[in-house]
Amino acid sequence: MSKEVVLSGIRPTGFLHLGNYFGAMRNYVRMQDEYNCYFFVANWHALTTHPDTKELQNSVHRVIAENIACGLDYQKVSLYVQSDVPEIAELYLYLNTMAYKGELEKTTTFKDKVRQQPDNVNAGLLTYPVLMAADILIHRALKVPVGKDQEQHLEMARNFAERFNHRYGDVLPSPQAFNFGSELVKIMSLDGNGKMSKSENQMNTLYLADDDDLIRKKIMKAKTDSGPTQPNSFKPDYIENIFTLLKLVSDQTVVNKFETDFNNCVIRYGDLKKQLAEDMVNFIKPIREQAADIQSNKALLSKIIHQGAEKARASASATLTEVRKAMRLNY
Ligand code: TYM
Repeated sequence: MSKEVVLSGIRPTGFLHLGNYFGAMRNYVRMQDEYNCYFFVANWHALTTHPDTKELQNSVHRVIAENIACGLDYQKVSLYVQSDVPEIAELYLYLNTMAYKGELEKTTTFKDKVRQQPDNVNAGLLTYPVLMAADILIHRALKVPVGKDQEQHLEMARNFAERFNHRYGDVLPSPQAFNFGSELVKIMSLDGNGKMSKSENQMNTLYLADDDDLIRKKIMKAKTDSGPTQPNSFKPDYIENIFTLLKLVSDQTVVNKFETDFNNCVIRYGDLKKQLAEDMVNFIKPIREQAADIQSNKALLSKIIHQGAEKARASASATLTEVRKAMRLNY
C-alpha cells in the first residue's frame, strides 16, 4: 500500500523558534518514517512581507539546516525550496479563479498584515491562502502538520479543493491540519502577549539559534505573578505556557514536582524558571550547534535542495497532469 502524503512549509522570514519546533517541526520528524513527506521553505510567501531579498538565501539555508538539526532526514523526505517547483505557481493560478475577494479579505492573517504593513497591501498578501492551498494540493497531501495559527488557511485549502472538484471532477483530496495529540499547538511569547514569532517581540521568543546565556536571560524574565492563593487553582495562560514549555523539555518528575507545588500554593516561580532555563539550554544547544555546522556546509545544502526539488517536481507534475486533464487544458 502506498504511504499517505504529508506536506508542510515554513517561511524564511527570520530565526526559527520554539513555536515552530513544537507546533510543526517536531511532528515532521515523527512523521518521516510512516508517511510520504514533503517539507519545504516557503520563499515565495516570504516575498509578500519581506520584498528585500538580500538576506533571503541565508534564511532559506538556515531553515533547511535547522530542520535537519532537529532530526529531519533529507534522504527519507523531500526537503525543498518552493521557488524550485514552478508547478505550484501554475496550480496557484487555477485556484485563484475559484477564490473570492470577499473571503480572502476576511482572512485573519490578511487583516493582521494590513494593520502591520498598510503601505504594502499587495495582491500576493491577499491571495496568500491560495498559494498555500496550491502548496498542499500539488502533492495531494492529506495531512498537514502545522500550529494552531494555520487552522483557517487549512479550512480555505479544503474549500478550494472542493470547488475545484465540483467544477472539474474529483482530482484534489481534502487536507487536514495535523498534530500528534488532540489539539493544534500554540506557544505563547514569554511575556504572555501573543505567540512566539520569527520577527516580533524577540526578547520574549526563544530561538533555536539563541546562545545559552540569552536563553537563561529570556526565561528568567518570563512573566509570572505572586502565585496561587487557593489550592488547585486555574493557571493563568502565561503560567500555563511556562508549564507547557517545561513539559516539552523537562523530565516528568520535574513537571510533577512543580505541578504539585502549584496545586499546594507553595510554588516558587524563581526555582521553576531556573530549572526550565537549564533544561531549555540542554535542549537548544545541540540543535544550535549542529545547525551552524550544516549551514556552513554549502555543498551539502546545495545537494539537499537539489535532491528535494527533484522529488517534489516529480510528484507535482503528476498532479498537474491530472489537473490539466480535468480542466481540458491538455492539448
Ligand atoms: P510559519 O513560517 O509562520 O510557521 C511555520 C510553522 O510553525 C507554526 N508556528 C507555531 N506553532 C505553535 N506556536 C507558535 N507560536 C507558532 N508559530 C509558528 C506554524 O503554525 C507553522 O506550522 N503559512 C505558513 C507557511 C506555509 C505552509 C504552507 C504551511 C506556506 N505554505 C503549506 C503548511 C502548508 C506559515 O506562515 O508558517
